[in-house]
Amino acid sequence: TEGVVRRDRFSGGPARSFLSSLSADRRIFAADVAVDRAHVVMLAECGIIGSEVAGEILEALDGIEDASHGALPEGEDVHEAIETAVIERVGEEGGRMHTARSRNDEVATCIRYRLREDVLEALEATLDLREALRTVAREHVGTTMPGYTHLQPAQPITVAHWALSYEQAVSRDTERLLDAYGRVNRSPLGAAAFAGTTFDVDRERVADLLGFDSVLENSMDAASSRDFLLETTAALSALATTLSGLAEDLVVFASRGFVEVDDDYASTSSIMPQKKNPDSLELVRAVAGDAAGGVSGLATTLKGLPRAYNIDLQRATPHAWETVDAVGEATIVAAGAVATADWNEDVLAREAGAGFSTATGVADLLAAEGLPFRTAHEMVAVAAENGADYAALDAASREVLGESLESYVEPAAVEAALDPAESVASRDSLGGPAPQAVEASLEASAEGLAA
Ligand code: ARG
Repeated sequence: TEGVVRRDRFSGGPARSFLSSLSADRRIFAADVAVDRAHVVMLAECGIIGSEVAGEILEALDGIEDASHGALPEGEDVHEAIETAVIERVGEEGGRMHTARSRNDEVATCIRYRLREDVLEALEATLDLREALRTVAREHVGTTMPGYTHLQPAQPITVAHWALSYEQAVSRDTERLLDAYGRVNRSPLGAAAFAGTTFDVDRERVADLLGFDSVLENSMDAASSRDFLLETTAALSALATTLSGLAEDLVVFASRGFVEVDDDYASTSSIMPQKKNPDSLELVRAVAGDAAGGVSGLATTLKGLPRAYNIDLQRATPHAWETVDAVGEATIVAAGAVATADWNEDVLAREAGAGFSTATGVADLLAAEGLPFRTAHEMVAVAAENGADYAALDAASREVLGESLESYVEPAAVEAALDPAESVASRDSLGGPAPQAVEASLEASAEGLAA
């Protein structure tokens, strides 16, 4: 087979490993075998190659797949290595496999074929995370906790309301990934180098054999566009950003004793014997940086590339693999940490009203009783400075409004508004934290998840 091993011109030299994508291509080894099979079947069906040689090539591909990665001959990339292995097994006739195609359409097809799997896995992970968040929500519809803005105590909420706030955010990440999947799942094969082919190929047939939804029509676009990588990593980056907020909340909550991260998701200190650190959540938080780096690496690599194929594209692809791996793993870890975390209901109940977090509810009550909201706000602000209880409110009423609190509102109603659980129960607007509103959200999220 000496004579058929090609590219003697490119067999060595100082830039050999710089030019090669072989190690990154391990990722698309199985995809390349699948793409080769489909292409060969199509070539035979279209009468472009004989069915006998097609059979021999398919058999060789089976053998190469069984022998797996390690046994591959050297090559500039996986496409060349597999082709060389086919020719070693079949003889010169094996060279018919590369009829009517180029590595350019081949690699674009392989990336899309493999990325479909990876995106599906990431999608599954988002569903598991949403399920974990829903389970927390179901168990804690009545668990009041402090809600924050600017990390300052703001208004009481429940653990369920908090959990569903992330479930709904992740559901949009699921949508974005699904949307990107639809555009990943299109076949460039048959575009050849970029200018199509003289052979009478059936691009739809080969797309169908590989399970693609449709064919990318224009051959220049098909072979050289990588916007599908950019949008997939962007969708993953958005997911990673959601995860980072979730992780950060849990890190803060753990530091306040609201929640205990399970041992499986925590680490100890090598020096401080008492420590239990929510390390895995901090790493989940950090993955948002990896993902943003992936998007930025891709965008800057793709920017300004001329038509059609340029080998810059070879260095674009790994950004997508790294991003999908990091974000997929972070999603799985986040789901596990959420599912196993232990919420400390006593601490949460105690802290739910801290920092006069029921103040808005008291102002709302006064406004509902007829005071302009701004006046009520001012009066409650004065009380906030002076004790934040019924006595302070009464004193503020006399000071700001010139009359006792009782002349505006029933004392029992004020006491209820000051109670964090009652405060939560009264905020039953659509999507609010009140148990009935949360139950309705839980039902809707079950439907969304099933869909
Ligand atoms: N390994 C290349 C890539 O990942 C595909 C090969 C195309 N090479 C070429 N010189 N046209 O994009």
